[in-house]
Amino acid sequence: SIVRRSSTTGASYVSRRGFASESAPERKVAVLGAAGGIGQPLSLLMKLNPLVSRLSLYDIAGTPGVAADVSHINTRSEVAGFAGEEQLGQALEGADVVIIPAGVPRKPGMTRDDLFNINAGIVKSLCTAIAKYCPNALVNMISNPVNSTVPIAAEVFKKAGTYDEKRLFGVTTLDVVRAKTFYAGKAKVNVAEVNVPVVGGHAGITILPLFSQATPKANLSDEEIEALTKRTQDGGTEVVEAKAGKGSATLSMAYAGAIFADACLKGLNGVPDVVECSFVQSNVTELPFFASKVRLGKNGVEEVLGLGALTDYEKKGLEALKPELLSSIEKGIKFAREN
Ligand code: NAD
Ligand code: LMR
Repeated sequence: SIVRRSSTTGASYVSRRGFASESAPERKVAVLGAAGGIGQPLSLLMKLNPLVSRLSLYDIAGTPGVAADVSHINTRSEVAGFAGEEQLGQALEGADVVIIPAGVPRKPGMTRDDLFNINAGIVKSLCTAIAKYCPNALVNMISNPVNSTVPIAAEVFKKAGTYDEKRLFGVTTLDVVRAKTFYAGKAKVNVAEVNVPVVGGHAGITILPLFSQATPKANLSDEEIEALTKRTQDGGTEVVEAKAGKGSATLSMAYAGAIFADACLKGLNGVPDVVECSFVQSNVTELPFFASKVRLGKNGVEEVLGLGALTDYEKKGLEALKPELLSSIEKGIKFAREN
């Protein structure tokens, strides 16, 4: 079929034909935790993405309903639901991108690290299955604490002999989404044109937005930059408190997760200059994992981009975040090695 041919002839065929759904290569995307607060709207958004040809929805329960519902939408992908561990292999087989929003969310008063005890085990078992059934997939880790779950995934893949640092991503896109929204509001610029890199990790002060590099440029005072930085760092907590015990960000996270998965798919398909911030294995600082701008390509990470020029305020923020980020990374590595 035309679809089949496009996947073997690669980028030139794709660019010649544009990205009409019929000519984009076949791509299978699996969502693990698809019946959850993030999983459901994320599954909807992935169903709307014309780059997806097969959408695989997995959870411990509830996915037959979500899959039946989403499958009636008249877009390209074929949808299948899988429930329970015995169907996990089938859900993963042949996946190009695996998105993981499985695990418990925060309640008011909790830190993301308070989720470690439950989510570390969930992530470990899901990554063990990924290593077995789709070792070449790009993994988009959403489950918290991301600063630890990404190192856990890396260790599980290393143990299985499948680790490729180019294919493992902590999803920090929601920090970028928030930084863009808050900056546009304060700077009174068109939010659709705003770009702000966010580096470091994904928890509290480890989230470091670089507003000095934000575009379009605006003349914000030091106090305004500080307030924007704090609001971005506390964005998750703002939602947790507003939801008052009913969980954390789900809708904005689904949007952010869909943006990041789309970038991964575009990279795989050979679209040039796809750049997103992500928490990846990194040499940008002395920390083994770090979020920064990443160029995506046919193998996943094409290039981890540097930090650029930082203001004194940002340099201070960078030094301040390192101890916490390193200890979260080490906690994840230790867990994976000992369990
Ligand atoms: P939720 O409780 O609504 O949904 C989680 C889903 O995971 C549930 O459907 C549950 O059945 C499923 N699940 C649990 N164990 C599983 C397993 N072993 N295999 C497959 N599925 C499993 O929670 P949510 O609001 O969707 O949040 C999910 C996770 O995402 C949380 O850890 C949360 O902290 C995190 N999160 C991350 C970001 C980010 O920016 N990276 C943003 C928001 C939330
Ligand atoms: C977020 O940033 O919204 C997520 O990490 C969820 C949380 O616990 O804050």
